Amino acid sequence: MGSKFLLLLLAITVVAIGHGSAQVPAQSNATQEYLDAHNQARSEVGVGPLKWSEGLAKSASLTARYQRDKQNCTFANLTSSKYGGNQLWAGGLAVTPRTAVETWVAEKKFYDYANNSCAPDHRCGVYTQVVWKNSLELGCGQAQCAKQQSSLTICFYNPPGNVVGEKPY
Ligand SMILES: *[C@@H]1O[C@H](CO)[C@@H](O)[C@H](O)[C@H]1NC(C)=O
Ligand SMILES: *[C@@H]1O[C@H](CO)[C@@H](O)[C@H](O)[C@H]1NC(C)=O
Ligand SMILES: *[C@@H]1O[C@H](CO)[C@@H](O)[C@H](O)[C@H]1NC(C)=O
Ligand SMILES: *[C@@H]1O[C@H](CO)[C@@H](O)[C@H](O)[C@H]1NC(C)=O
Repeated sequence: MGSKFLLLLLAITVVAIGHGSAQVPAQSNATQEYLDAHNQARSEVGVGPLKWSEGLAKSASLTARYQRDKQNCTFANLTSSKYGGNQLWAGGLAVTPRTAVETWVAEKKFYDYANNSCAPDHRCGVYTQVVWKNSLELGCGQAQCAKQQSSLTICFYNPPGNVVGEKPY
């Protein structure tokens, strides 16, 4: 029958570039885990590190909690967001910040840099957003949802990545 847990990934694509906002130094453990996991994947392909943004983190956290409280813990519709966004819904297992980011980075093996394409039925967009060179700031949040022992993790990126027709780096 079904597997014990389920992971769903979602990235958004954008057609325009947004503007920057203020950033402050990393503080909590979770913050450091989100940052380290991103910056490790970025350094593997020669892309500079992201900096933590409290503003983006607050937005991500508010969005995740709104989805939990008002939208039955489904993915947020970020189509009109001015930030890039990666989302992870996980059911049946606890997801640390590092696990969430590593789940996105795991799509790397389906991404073909040479022709900037993704294997069928995969979501390389979550990976390309993680390593998007022109994204400079990161902020993430997570909500624990009652149903199925699940959680929703959201990271925002500024400026947004996944610009249609461009390579991540
Ligand atoms: C903080 O990180 C350390 C190791 O990196 C871990 O052992 C500890 O449980 C973490 N604390 C919290 C509150 O997440
Ligand atoms: C919320 O999601 C759960 C699990 O997917 C489902 O059983 C339930 O019917 C949903 N509730 C609403 C109001 O959509
Ligand atoms: C998301 O929001 C946009 C408008 O911002 C709308 O056009 C689109 O249909 C929405 N998508 C879903 C899946 O609700
Ligand atoms: C990209 O290149 C890979 C490897 O050569 C190939 O399998 C894939 O079909 C190509 N994709 C597109 C969209 O051209």
